[in-house]
Amino acid sequence: MDAAPLPPADLRGRTVLVTGANAGIGYWCAEQLAARGARVLLGCRSPERAQIAVAAIRSRVPAADLRVRVLDLGSLDSIALAATGVGERLDAVICNAGVKAADRSARTSDDHDLMVGTNFLGHFALVAQLEPFLAPDARVVAVGSIAHRFAHLDAAALDAASLDAPWSGSSLRQYGRSKASLMAFTFELARRWSGSSRAAVCAHPGYAVDPLTPPRPGLAEVSGFVRAVASPTRALVQGKDGGALPIVHAATASEVVDGAYWGPGGLLEFRGTPTRVTASDDVRSAAVGAQLWTAAERLTGVRFPT
Ligand SMILES: NC(=O)c1ccc[n+]([C@@H]2O[C@H](COP(=O)([O-])OP(=O)(O)OC[C@H]3O[C@@H](n4cnc5c(N)ncnc54)[C@H](OP(=O)(O)O)[C@@H]3O)[C@@H](O)[C@H]2O)c1
Repeated sequence: MDAAPLPPADLRGRTVLVTGANAGIGYWCAEQLAARGARVLLGCRSPERAQIAVAAIRSRVPAADLRVRVLDLGSLDSIALAATGVGERLDAVICNAGVKAADRSARTSDDHDLMVGTNFLGHFALVAQLEPFLAPDARVVAVGSIAHRFAHLDAAALDAASLDAPWSGSSLRQYGRSKASLMAFTFELARRWSGSSRAAVCAHPGYAVDPLTPPRPGLAEVSGFVRAVASPTRALVQGKDGGALPIVHAATASEVVDGAYWGPGGLLEFRGTPTRVTASDDVRSAAVGAQLWTAAERLTGVRFPT
């Protein structure tokens, strides 16, 4: 069963770019936005997987207004091409694409650590180059994670070399570092946009898993047996359709303000109705945000026009 019945078409005339829209939470953001009448640009690295997602959305929302934009967040060339070719005004950008686990040796096309490079640097470069296309009241929504709390970002020790240094410890800790960096950048963008009508916000999906997610043709296949075994966990966690709700809320609800952080309101923020949640002091730190910004400019060679 889906998380909610289809809502009204209140987003007609709005255009939203969702990165990593061909699978998981990004797919569900795209489907929920399309169901409300938004034009959705699906930013995906594989045109084939993107077309499967388009067909799946159209199977539920026949009139969906969808466009595919080829976008590999692990390649600065691909990001530049996608950003300069977007060709229309954007009302929101949802920075969702993410790598959740990787070896220490895994690198992007530009030879950055795969998780920091994709999850943070890729989105930094994307948003910077999309800036000329952003509507005067546009929102940038970064998909954060509870895991940002596993990371310690120390402004005094944060520079391009340390951000991209070979890491030790667990892959989960490095993932947390990549998400914390994305969130700290977004809160810094919010500070730089204060006084304008634009908003930069973070949102996290809680704990969202495929076995609790409604099936869609061509997307993550989960057997009936696995669904049945997973079913009792619904009391604590949720499907990826539910995980998309705080993110879509952050991108569209009128009550969301610049610099806010949204997530599920239930136990441990794993599932539940979207609500305002608290981010760590590190990712809220203006000193960390400024250092990260400079480091990201140096590592990507991309500067914000803002
Ligand atoms: N699931 C959770 O409980 C949870 C919790 C906290 C935060 N999050 C965050 O939510 C986001 C989505 O997670 P998910 O669970 O939906 O993950 P998922 O099912 O693994 O989907 C990840 C998406 O990111 C895309 N992606 C990965 N690398 C990319 C690249 N280089 N360029 C373009 N797209 C790329 C994938 O595309 P391909 O199909 O091409 O690989 C896929 O569409 C992530 O940012 C994750 O960190 C998830």
